[in-house]
Amino acid sequence: MKKIWNLETKNLIQQRVELYGFVDNIRDHGKILFLDLRDRSGVVQCVIDQSNNFFSLAKNLKPASVVKIIGYVQPRPAHLENPDLETGKVEVMIEKLELLALAKDLPFEVTSDGYEINEALRLKYRYLDLRRPRLQKNLRRRHEFLLFLRNFLDAQGFIEIETPILTKSTPEGARDFLVPSRLYPGKFYALPQSPQQYKQLLMVAGLERYFQIARCFRDEDPRADRQPEFTQIDIEMSYVERDDLLNLVEKMFIEVIQNLYPQKKITKIPFPRIGYEEAIRLYGSDKPDLREDPQNPNELAFCFIIDFPMFEWNENENRWETMHHPFTQPKLPDGSKDKNELIKVLETSPEILLSEQYDLVLNGYEIGGGSLRITDSDILIKVFEVLGYNKQEIEAKFKHLIEAFSYGVPPHGGIAPGVDRILMILENETNIREVIAFPKTGENRDLMMDAPSEISEKELRELGIEIKRSNLK
Ligand code: AMO
Repeated sequence: MKKIWNLETKNLIQQRVELYGFVDNIRDHGKILFLDLRDRSGVVQCVIDQSNNFFSLAKNLKPASVVKIIGYVQPRPAHLENPDLETGKVEVMIEKLELLALAKDLPFEVTSDGYEINEALRLKYRYLDLRRPRLQKNLRRRHEFLLFLRNFLDAQGFIEIETPILTKSTPEGARDFLVPSRLYPGKFYALPQSPQQYKQLLMVAGLERYFQIARCFRDEDPRADRQPEFTQIDIEMSYVERDDLLNLVEKMFIEVIQNLYPQKKITKIPFPRIGYEEAIRLYGSDKPDLREDPQNPNELAFCFIIDFPMFEWNENENRWETMHHPFTQPKLPDGSKDKNELIKVLETSPEILLSEQYDLVLNGYEIGGGSLRITDSDILIKVFEVLGYNKQEIEAKFKHLIEAFSYGVPPHGGIAPGVDRILMILENETNIREVIAFPKTGENRDLMMDAPSEISEKELRELGIEIKRSNLK
């Protein structure tokens, strides 16, 4: 007997098979009953007639129940074939039916695409929502996409290295999520906004080509293309020029799309490389949508934006911020990276500096960012000074990096494409929640697990934390 996926029945005519899955629906025709069985691969119609001992069990089944079926695969008469179903030319004549688990009525339909259902309800019952074929497909595509990139980067000599989740604050421009330390009351770990410093330290360690499917955490307000927790394909390389990195990323995306999304058309190859100033002048945006026909769901317009300004002025807080992050190599407007000149300009007129930042843009979304890095500690310290850090703060926050650079640091650079945003676009979704198994809501809550949630007095005591009730909303 063959234990098989539903989809395989189409090639197993006249064979006895063993099937498992959810009952999608039941059509009772009196003496005969049709039951659509769904498993991960798809749906197959099963039939049982009243002469069968299991007929009354079948009659009393409820949709969504979990069953095991043993039966014969037979061709359907031509006029009863269902062209909408991949297994529509066959049906399974049930011999044995076993109920493995009964299901209550579901809170919503799980066979439709689900867009019409209240999203809070979908997220509360995400484990049911994920039964939906559209979401099953999105998760499978995500898996195939990541598997392809892993193999691609492996073939290019990169190795995947995991970096810590419990770490120290690193400045990527958002607020950190903090984790109190029980062993060191009053002290906190920060969850990484990205593995930025670790990947640079791996270059100091001589690994030369690193990547990681990396989880990142940023405490910022969610949007359609932003989650507090998201995934990057984080890449870092030693001994590279900017164009080595851009060429690598370009090749990676062309190959993954040609292999996994052959129906999609890339508007322009090579991807246009547009200076920041030119992008603003021509398109009024540093993430321009360069599609020739924005109505066409199969068009992918990639471009790289290069030559960003190093700093931008934060009006609200009256201070300089880096456009990317402080580890990005600045350069003079003429492209020169002469150390003495850079130090002088950092001290006097940081606003004129450009940087070796580059963004990857797709259909109007920023889907990746990266840069060549500062490897000279004097310049790094000057950048932090422009950002308003004093000597003690720089020492406390970045001593490890500055010290590491004193032991011989290969020139290096990297990039981090955001997995969720890219898949959202490739799968023609309009929200990254649709390509994440268990996303947070628009208010950063996990409605299924009910997180964030309160913790016990005992746990608070162990952490040396006291909650000021008057501060709570
Ligand atoms: P950056 O901050 O530009 O660079 O992030 C890189 C890419 O990550 C994705 N991304 C997000 N996706 C979903 N939700 C979010 N909240 C979110 N924030 C960012 C975007 C973005 O382009 N360490 C550097 C990379 C480097 O310099 O190598 C970094 O994280 O697609």
